[in-house]
Amino acid sequence: MTPQKIIIDTDPGIDDAMAIFFALNSPELELIGLTTIFGNGFTDLTTTNALRLLEIAERPDIPVAVGAAQPVADRFDEPGSVVHGDDGQGNVHLPPPTAKPVDQNAAAFIIEQVMRAPREVTLVPIGPLTNIALALHLEPRIATAVREVVIMGGNALVPGNITPAAEANIFHDPEAADTVFGTSWPVTMVGLDVTQKTVMSSEQLGKLAQSTTATAQHLSAIIPFYQDFTLKANKFHGIYLHDPTTLAYLVAKDAFQTLQRPVRVETQGFSRGKTWIANDQTNKWSTAWQNRPPVNVCIGVNGPQISDLILERLM
Ligand code: RIB
Ligand code: CA
Repeated sequence: MTPQKIIIDTDPGIDDAMAIFFALNSPELELIGLTTIFGNGFTDLTTTNALRLLEIAERPDIPVAVGAAQPVADRFDEPGSVVHGDDGQGNVHLPPPTAKPVDQNAAAFIIEQVMRAPREVTLVPIGPLTNIALALHLEPRIATAVREVVIMGGNALVPGNITPAAEANIFHDPEAADTVFGTSWPVTMVGLDVTQKTVMSSEQLGKLAQSTTATAQHLSAIIPFYQDFTLKANKFHGIYLHDPTTLAYLVAKDAFQTLQRPVRVETQGFSRGKTWIANDQTNKWSTAWQNRPPVNVCIGVNGPQISDLILERLM
């Protein structure tokens, strides 16, 4: 089996760290680069964290490309410190990394990698979609050269998490998200409809804490911060597996139920960032969804199967 080449576009982030380690521990996947974005922190911090995580995993050879510092049409000024810590890693304050990012920015890195290996590279954005929209703007041919785009973001049939309307990654750059969902390319939306059904229980977290690998020990040091937030905000003792579920989709697609629907992203008012899927494939209800390509929208998942898979890969 030839592993699937992936680039993770990421804002690490506690669940981002889980996703990156999941990818590195999965023989089905070959992580060829990380590109960074704001979200759980400003982009300079998320870049430092991406480098730190690769060093913990003893993979400093994997390139890290620095992404956009701001959304395409708005200002970003509120990082997710309350969920992920001031350092984006549960306030464990890791030492500075030794490695440096590559000279190319994230959009240029994505374009070069996708165009160099047509239909081989899958993009996995697990933060706001700014870098992906910029890459599309600079080189529209990536839309036909990419293998797949698998996005952690959005909420089709369930409420949001950062506002009642919107999921955090889409909320931080709705204009970019509407561009990405409006492009004709093979996009899958792994949103809150499935990531909030995929939970790691405190019992599973206890098992993870028994692992002596450096990556599992790092996760066990940072996850309690996220777990405390989840207990206060969502009133349960485990954690949602947003970003690792998106990587798990690539290795266990059969565990997910999907609908093929055009997606529009609200960019105005108090519903800013809401992902609206069309009622059906005919798009007869509104011109806003007409002439938009279908997106593969995840609406159901075997949550226990996926959380077991994630735990196994992180041990
Ligand atoms: O809404 C969940 C998403 O927001 C995840 O990507 C998490 O890392 C945060 O950025
Ligand atoms: Ca993330």
